[in-house]
Amino acid sequence: MARRRLIYEGKAKILYEGPEPGTIVQYFKDDATAFNAEKKAVIEGKGVLNNRLSEHFMTGLNAIGVPTHFIKRLNMREQLVKAVEVIPLEVVVRNIAAGSISKRLGIKEGTPLPRPIVEFYYKDDSLGDPMVSEDQIVAFQWATPQDLDEMVAMALRVNDFLSGMMLAVGIKLVDFKIEIGRLFEGDFQRLIVADEISPDSCRLWDIETGQKLDKDVFRQDIGDLADAYTEVATRLGVMPKKSPPTGGPTLVK
Ligand code: TMP
Ligand code: ASP
Repeated sequence: MARRRLIYEGKAKILYEGPEPGTIVQYFKDDATAFNAEKKAVIEGKGVLNNRLSEHFMTGLNAIGVPTHFIKRLNMREQLVKAVEVIPLEVVVRNIAAGSISKRLGIKEGTPLPRPIVEFYYKDDSLGDPMVSEDQIVAFQWATPQDLDEMVAMALRVNDFLSGMMLAVGIKLVDFKIEIGRLFEGDFQRLIVADEISPDSCRLWDIETGQKLDKDVFRQDIGDLADAYTEVATRLGVMPKKSPPTGGPTLVK
């Protein structure tokens, strides 16, 4: 059997050529990075959790008519996706102030925003993914004004969908990041949600306790990241509940 061709290795995922033209196999690693990879660790099981969670969110989006690259999950760590040309922008939607908006504008973390705010960041690690304006995006031809309108509308639909899904399991969707790609179909192209949607790219807070259930747990060293992601997956019914330990020796005092 021929070895499959590696297309790209990123910080959290590896992309391989898929079995058919126009497809890609997306492999989720256990590697966690933060602050532009200044902080790194291997979190056992993270890749498996993100593969399942991204499948769950993308399948739901496909079902409500928000097109995504997701085709099917192949195994514990891999999913088959449509090959797209990724627009070099991170699209962030914020519902509650946290992270960089709190720092930049001095808004106390946890303050609800008057309405969802959409922001764009230029994907370039050597520059630290700087925030960019819509005018800059159009001038540098990363996207057209029509693309931008569509991207904002898509991002807000994703926000509505994910917010509802999270609310139903007692979690606030504080903010998230998506990436969008161009899918070419003959003479036409359309924009679809690509990359991943997982607790690596969202802020998720428990409604009751405010407990953080996302990558901030790793960024801020405030707990076990795999436990936090397992909690999200369990509440969403994506992973079975952790069964209490059975059998085995117990310490009797
Ligand atoms: P920020 O507050 O640091 O700008 O992050 C906003 C959202 O984007 C948050 O949910 C985390 C996510 N995010 C990524 O997915 N990748 C990144 O590189 C950064 C900086 C943020
Ligand atoms: N994804 C970025 C990194 O790895 C930043 C972050 O998520 O905090 O370094």
